[in-house]
Amino acid sequence: MTTHNKIPATLIPGDGIGPEIVESVTEILDAVHAPFEWDKQIAGMAGVEAVKDPLPQKTIESIRRTGLALKGPLTTPVGGGFKSINVTMRQEFGLFANVRPVKTIIPGGRYDNVDLVLFRENLEGYYAAMEHYLPVGNDPHGIALASGFTSRAESRRIIKYAFDYAVKNNRKKVTVVHKANILKLLTGLFLEEGRKVAEEYKGRVEFNECIVDACAMKLVINPAQFDVIVTTNLFGDILSDLTSGLVGGLGMAPGANIGDNAAIFEAVHGSAPDIAGQGIANPLALLLAAVMMLRHVKREDLAKRIETAIDKVVVSGKARTKDLGGHATTKDFTEALKQALA
Ligand code: NAI
Repeated sequence: MTTHNKIPATLIPGDGIGPEIVESVTEILDAVHAPFEWDKQIAGMAGVEAVKDPLPQKTIESIRRTGLALKGPLTTPVGGGFKSINVTMRQEFGLFANVRPVKTIIPGGRYDNVDLVLFRENLEGYYAAMEHYLPVGNDPHGIALASGFTSRAESRRIIKYAFDYAVKNNRKKVTVVHKANILKLLTGLFLEEGRKVAEEYKGRVEFNECIVDACAMKLVINPAQFDVIVTTNLFGDILSDLTSGLVGGLGMAPGANIGDNAAIFEAVHGSAPDIAGQGIANPLALLLAAVMMLRHVKREDLAKRIETAIDKVVVSGKARTKDLGGHATTKDFTEALKQALA
């Protein structure tokens, strides 16, 4: 591929603050002449309103064609029998790896030296949504029951993905996080595969294992002791919000959902209905997701350029949105970033 080739990619503005932050991010991508050729599609409430479907077939077909998407947050309609769109997308495209890097950007916060990447298994565990009720006496919902599952193959795939990432990105250590002392089979199998994969990388990547509750405590006390973390679906979901809190909250946390045939990049946060339409949303998490997307298509040069501009604008305090203690609107922030890129 030459640098002049356009790369087809699906763009989903999403709900709530989604369209505002997507506009900001695409303006910044345009400013660096990012190679994406956007195919704009709808999902979430926008899909429900337009075609009564939170994940319209046209959107699915677009992602199947491009294999690449940048997605604004989607509101999951409450009630009405709608399944979580994010979970549906992960299943539909076999997005087995949820990658959530966390890095200190603004110094002077809780920690100045956080730089870790969390890999969350995205398809199994308790999130396979096998739940039901059992009656007790007259109460049909007397007991709620959920079953999770772990497969050897998926455990191996996500753990190997984390180790490969460590090798490629010069990371020193992978920690497998589990609860094999209690969930001996469900997370024991994950740990068992972790130990096997670690053997294959011996001498290249250091291996460590940690029980999830101890990991939460250690992350809060000294996050610098972690480098790459790989864990199961539920633990990864919880720990990645914890780690985003270490560096200033959800407004700074990007994520990627990676499969063999598709990759979807998004902010970790939701559609923030409480501030939607006010023009004050922080586009940084989605911008950092776009930076991951640029690296995914091997445009390290553009990724670095945007990161340098972020450092200039956010670290210096030139423009920060309200959630980061500043007064900049989404538009002010976007303009400041574009100027820093010039
Ligand atoms: P949320 O992440 O949307 O909001 C939590 C808090 O953080 C709010 O006070 C919000 O104003 C603030 N916030 C979030 N992003 C921000 C940003 N970029 N700039 C400034 N402030 C920001 O979580 P909530 O309220 O629990 O969920 C709202 C909706 O989003 C729900 O329908 C939920 O299902 C959906 N959601 C979608 C996700 C996705 O599409 N990946 C992920 C999480 C939630």
